[in-house]
Amino acid sequence: MITLDIIRKPVAADLEEFDAFVARQFTAEGDLLEEMLRYALSSRGKGIRPTLVMLSAAMNAPVKTERLGPRVSLAAMLVEMIHVASLIHDDVIDESAERRGRASVNARWQSRKAVLLGDYILARNMNIGLSSGQFDLVTHVCNSITALCEGEIFQSDCAEKQNTTRQSYLEIIHKKTASLLGTSASVGALAVRAPRERVELMRNFGEALGMAFQIQDDILDFSPSARTGKPSNNDLREGKITLPLLDVLERVDAERRSELLERLARCHEDEESVALLQRTVVEEGGLEAAARVMQGYLRRALDLLSTYEDSPARTALANLCAYVAERDR
Ligand code: FPP
Ligand code: MG
Repeated sequence: MITLDIIRKPVAADLEEFDAFVARQFTAEGDLLEEMLRYALSSRGKGIRPTLVMLSAAMNAPVKTERLGPRVSLAAMLVEMIHVASLIHDDVIDESAERRGRASVNARWQSRKAVLLGDYILARNMNIGLSSGQFDLVTHVCNSITALCEGEIFQSDCAEKQNTTRQSYLEIIHKKTASLLGTSASVGALAVRAPRERVELMRNFGEALGMAFQIQDDILDFSPSARTGKPSNNDLREGKITLPLLDVLERVDAERRSELLERLARCHEDEESVALLQRTVVEEGGLEAAARVMQGYLRRALDLLSTYEDSPARTALANLCAYVAERDR
């Protein structure tokens, strides 16, 4: 079993510097805001995005140095803080009471304050990015904020209309997850001044990894044994059609499809419908079908990596691909 500690190893010291960098840059005026900010930052989760920035930087650095340095830390901070802000807003939108096994910011301080904390983090992040004068870096990360918002709105519209197709599902997860992972991998290369084609290649790598990552997230949502720190079957309760269910819906006849969709419409208030759909997806092989699609994206990511010569960072990125498929949290 590949662990995140193994994956982080080639950039462990850089990630420590990154943590200190974020703590220095992100302070707030006002006791309550400072308390909320500390709360949001004290459980940042797996740190996949900063790890991806660092490993991409290490693999693309023209000369190997002891440390990757502040340009790379800044790039990692910009993407990670967009991620932090987006989850704070996401929990408001989804009315989620839990995140990573503890109360969400909205559950603890109410939605109106949670929205403002997310805004504050985004604004601060942009200020810090702009004052570095690295406008190409800031442009990259701003594009991913736009994509995140487009993805969330599209997802919410498709859930309301129950008209998610495979194409719209893939577009949603590309925008809400793959784009920020693509940005993470590309800004790592940009920060070490890699050639433009390498920056683009890394974006494609990160996007393929991100597609796989979100599909696994959607698979885990159906699994009661996962250690995600989130209640399972949340997507069903939110009326979201993700790949495991979508695959089943594509295979059943029209009558059964409308039966299942009727059940889905009741999931926000009826636990029996949640259990029935969950069972149906498991029994009809929806999880295995989704896993096959995920493996396709991982193969693409590994193909892109194989254009680099062997190095500890490349091995770690290949391990990250394996981790995405194996993870249970
Ligand atoms: C989690 O998805 C949410 C996202 C990946 C993106 C959320 C984006 C926004 C709310 C748009 C606003 C963006 C910014 C930068 C403020 P999920 O609900 O499927 O996963 P979950 O189960 O972890 O909640
Ligand atoms: Mg959510």
